[in-house]
Amino acid sequence: MCGIVGYTGPREAYPIIIKGLKRLEYRGYDSTGVALQNSGLKVYKKKGRVAELEDMMIGKDIHAHTGIGHTRWATHGEPSDRNAHPHSSASGKLAMIHNGIIENYAQIKKELSNKGYTFSSDTDTEVLLNFIEEIQKNNQCNLEEAVRIALKRVTGAYVILLIDETHPDTIIAARKGSPLVIGIGKGEHFLGSDATPMLEYTKEVVYVNDYELAIIKPDELILKNLGNEKITPYVQKLDMELAAIEKGGYEHFMLKEINEQPETIYDCLRGRLDITTGTITMAGVEKEMERLIHANRIVIVACGTSWHAGLVAEYIFEELCRIPVEVEYASEFRYRNPVIFPGDVIIAVSQSGETADTLVAIEKAKDQGALIFGVVNVVGSSIARASQAGAYTHAGPEIGVASTKAFTAQLAVLTMVALKLAKQKNTISEERYLHLVNELHAIPEKVAIVLESAPLIKALAEKYKDAEDFLYLGRGYNFPVALEGALKLKEISYIHAEGYPAAEMKHGPIALVDENLPVVFVATRDSFHEKVVSNMQEIKARKGKVIAVINEGDTDTAAICDDVMTVPEANEIVAPMLSTIPLQLLAYYIGLAKGYDVDKPRNLAKSVTVE
Ligand code: G6P
Repeated sequence: MCGIVGYTGPREAYPIIIKGLKRLEYRGYDSTGVALQNSGLKVYKKKGRVAELEDMMIGKDIHAHTGIGHTRWATHGEPSDRNAHPHSSASGKLAMIHNGIIENYAQIKKELSNKGYTFSSDTDTEVLLNFIEEIQKNNQCNLEEAVRIALKRVTGAYVILLIDETHPDTIIAARKGSPLVIGIGKGEHFLGSDATPMLEYTKEVVYVNDYELAIIKPDELILKNLGNEKITPYVQKLDMELAAIEKGGYEHFMLKEINEQPETIYDCLRGRLDITTGTITMAGVEKEMERLIHANRIVIVACGTSWHAGLVAEYIFEELCRIPVEVEYASEFRYRNPVIFPGDVIIAVSQSGETADTLVAIEKAKDQGALIFGVVNVVGSSIARASQAGAYTHAGPEIGVASTKAFTAQLAVLTMVALKLAKQKNTISEERYLHLVNELHAIPEKVAIVLESAPLIKALAEKYKDAEDFLYLGRGYNFPVALEGALKLKEISYIHAEGYPAAEMKHGPIALVDENLPVVFVATRDSFHEKVVSNMQEIKARKGKVIAVINEGDTDTAAICDDVMTVPEANEIVAPMLSTIPLQLLAYYIGLAKGYDVDKPRNLAKSVTVE
């Protein structure tokens, strides 16, 4: 949610900032701007995408060695030129960018207004900036001190970067609840909401923690807490290559990421699943094995697509480990005063590792004594760090806003965790365990087979692209797949789509069925197959259009469908990793056919760091 970039050093700052902003556009893309130290502070900003800012900058003097840039996902104030960041202070001497929400901004704004301040935007950011300047003026203190005082007063979440005309090579940064990475170069520093803006310049990074403040000059990085005590920066090595964040010949990141799934699932299993010995090695599970196998209950907290992965995991853990599981929307769980026992295990599932609701939910549960196990994609992210144990999904950077490869990697990790616990608890027979280990191992190859049907799915997309509504139905392990299929379609094609358990359709949604309603069934052969087929007949009897994901060679089911998408046979526990792929492709091709920007769908952002 909002991407921020900064640079100070001997190079030209502007091109580094612009390139960095383009990489962070997945975080928000309704307006953008830069502030440059160029014989005085210059701020340029604009509604729209980074490319539009670039056009506006043609012919301007962009020479600067220090600067900050921002790409926005609006919270306070509509997307517009004046609400775009950076904001300038009343004196014009300070410029600031911000990711997050200052919750008590209205109170502070009132106080400042009483002192005669006026505001040129509707943002909480401008309020915080002027508050900092006011403190600086009143206390006759330096900017760093003023920031510290101001941040003690504000509630909410933030990463801020500030530059000051009177100290042209210095950037002041602070974080609470939103991500901030500092890249360390030779005589230069890079800042970003994630590490991608600095990838080609340095592999040495510092992940700033909550309540830390950084004073950054070309050849100096000082990290302090809000109590003004120095902290030694913990420098980590980045394990990410530039190629991983480029399109690699694909038209869109989403298509690239869908196609990467044979590899990403394989990478996720690699080094963990050994079919020759039948072992699953997961250090994060082994470390907390006792608490995990004796869990009274597992509560999975997540949002969006990750929540759907949690729903599939609920079926798997209950079936294999005989542990009761609840799956919670993190945003509801955190505010509900939930009952948490010390024997509970909370599994936080998150691609970005930065989702604010998930992060706060786990912190709350941790305070009440639960064990937090993170299933996270982004290494070093806030949720990864807040977890006491966990397993990375190793899917590589996911740039397309709609999650695809992260979902299947989450399923792979959660399945391995369940199998490992079930074995340790003796709730699974050796034979079934080994069968499932082999089934899991075979998934990457089977995903590659599903991907071959892309041209056929593209043709289906053309056929159904003008439908106004879609229904997605499935039972058992395929019910969450139906929810995920509907979510993908909504996100990418803006077509209204609902996911339901197939049997539940009779209790309401069936009223929607007529000859115009495409109903997508996830109907691979599993314990519920016959019942799903009956549900298909019920739709057909009402003249609905039935499109189904079925197994290759299932001619009986194909005979009652209008259209089918096929996947290879697999055990029902691992089948969602296959049945979800055609639905990702269907959403992609419908979005494409409708002419939408599938990588950056309207109103969405990939990393939701506000609640
Ligand atoms: C946003 C993204 C979704 C994602 C959800 C949860 O809404 O657009 O794709 O599933 O956040 O994100 P997380 O990073 O926690 O998995």
